[in-house]
This record gives sequence, C-alpha cells and structure tokens, in this order.
Amino acid sequence: MSRSERPTGGVRYENRGRVVLVSGGASGIGHAICQAFVDSGASVVCLDIFQPEIDSLTAEVAAVFGDTSREEDCHRAVEFAVETFGGLDVLVNNAAIQPKESYRPLHELETQVWQRMVDVNFTGYTLLAKQAIPVMLRQGSGVIINLSSGQGGRTARQVAAYGPIKAANRMQARQWGVEYARDGIRVLSVSPGAIDTPLVRATLAEQGGGEELANRHPLGRIGRPEEIASAVLWLSSDDASFITATDIEVDGGLGAFGAFADPYPKSTLSPS
Ligand SMILES: NC(=O)c1ccc[n+]([C@@H]2O[C@H](COP(=O)([O-])OP(=O)(O)OC[C@H]3O[C@@H](n4cnc5c(N)ncnc54)[C@H](O)[C@@H]3O)[C@@H](O)[C@H]2O)c1
Repeated sequence: MSRSERPTGGVRYENRGRVVLVSGGASGIGHAICQAFVDSGASVVCLDIFQPEIDSLTAEVAAVFGDTSREEDCHRAVEFAVETFGGLDVLVNNAAIQPKESYRPLHELETQVWQRMVDVNFTGYTLLAKQAIPVMLRQGSGVIINLSSGQGGRTARQVAAYGPIKAANRMQARQWGVEYARDGIRVLSVSPGAIDTPLVRATLAEQGGGEELANRHPLGRIGRPEEIASAVLWLSSDDASFITATDIEVDGGLGAFGAFADPYPKSTLSPS
C-alpha cells in the first residue's frame, strides 16, 4: 500500500524533515506510532529486539535490531539515526514487557522477573534518553515521550512490578523535563488505558475478562493503538510547545472513574 492510500487514523501533523526514534516499534502501540510518523513525513528508526516483528516493519521504517536494556544497543540506535538522517528530533521510549509470570502478588514474584522488567521498562528508558539527550542539546531542540500506563498512577492487584515501574516512567519524564526545560527539550509521559495490542491480547487470552475490561472504561471500549499514536504526534508537535514535565492520560476516561463509582451496566457497552 502506498503512503497516500494508507489510512492515517486522522493524523494531520507535518513531520517532513524530522527524525524520530521509537523503541519497541515493531508491535502494538509502537508500531502505530512509527506508522503515524511515517505518514506525516518523518524519517523513522525503530529499535526492537523481536526479529520476526522487526522484519514485518514497513520499508519506510529503518529497523535497528537491539535490546533497550543494553547501553551499547541504545548507543548504536541513536548513532544510526544521526548518521543516516542527520539528527534526532523525537525519541519515543515505548519498549516494555509484562510477562504473564509478573501477574503475582509481591511475595510470589520471582526476583529475576522483577529484574528483567526493571532492566527493560525502566533502565531501558533511561539508557536511550541518555544517548539521545546530548544530540538534542547540540541541536537545541528535541522531544522525549515515555510510554507509561494508567497503572502508573493507580493500583491494581497482581501488578507488583509493572505498576511501580510505570509510575517511575512518569517521574523520569518530570525529572528530565525540568532538567532540560531551558535547553529546548520537552519531556512527557503518556499513560494509555487498555489498548488493543498483542500485550493486552495475550493477557486476556490467559485471564479472560475482555468485556469487563472494555466496560471499565467510561467510553465503553478499549482503545486503538492509533489513538495513542495521535496523542504522541500532537505532543511532539509545536502545538504542544508549552507542555513539558507532565503526564497525559489517553484512557477513555478510565483514570477519572472513581473507586466508589457504580460499574456501568452491560447495556451501556458501545458495539465497537
Ligand atoms: N497495550 C496496552 O493496553 C498498554 C496500556 C498502557 C501502557 N502500555 C505501554 O505501551 C507500550 C507499548 O505496549 P504494547 O501493548 O504496544 O506492547 P507490545 O508487546 O505489543 O509491543 C512491545 C514491543 O517492544 C519490543 N520490546 C520488548 N522488549 C524489548 C527490548 N528489551 N528492547 C527492544 N524492544 C523490546 C517488543 O518486541 C515489541 O515489539 C509499553 O510501554 C506499555 O507498557 C500499553
């Protein structure tokens, strides 16, 4: 499918001449973010660990095979973006894991599972940002967006690792956003509600509860990856030039739904 024929999901931003690096861009939300940036004219680099998925990326996305928890791989991806396209305007820290063995109360969580999630979901964001920031400082401009989660702001059972680490992704954005505010670098986190991706489908296949999960969102459905991509494009554009060091929830109202609220009856489910 050519670029002009491809549905853009309503994305209207012009990113011609901008260079974007997306971690975990071979699947799910990251893939939709890569596609949206490609459709708006950007040069896009995807750093991903999963070879079969990375092979399936569009020819317009330059793929770097590597692991965000390894500093040398992060260095290689940033160096590739700079050498190939001449700079780095937007970094999207998106690669994260939530293995089924992590759905445990804390005392049953294997320490090695915790450690791998820290390495990828937390340290990986830091390592990639650490490589990108010197490039952005030299340019005097840049935007970094960390994919956090609604679970980074409120609690649930059985997410003893994922929840606290996703909270840390928000704090990374606040910390870096303040640190580099006078250097032309904006840093934000985006916290999705449940989004229809392989990560969520695997959890639902394991645990069930798809309809219940949809109904927990006031909009009556889970989100689409393209809806997160739209928010990321907006936040990385000059339209969001006064927004930094904060978190944006893109969650169909999930975060506003109080613990004391009555659940919606099934009849309010939209047929999406
Ligand atoms: N899907 C949701 O409902 C949801 C909700 C809230 C937040 N999020 C967040 O959005 C982001 C994307 O989630 P998704 O659902 O699209 O996930 P996904 O599993 O569909 O995709 C994740 C991608 O990251 C890659 N990856 C994993 N480990 C890596 C590593 N060490 N180095 C490089 N690449 C690696 C995978 O190969 C895959 O391509 C994550 O940060 C996740 O926490 C997702």
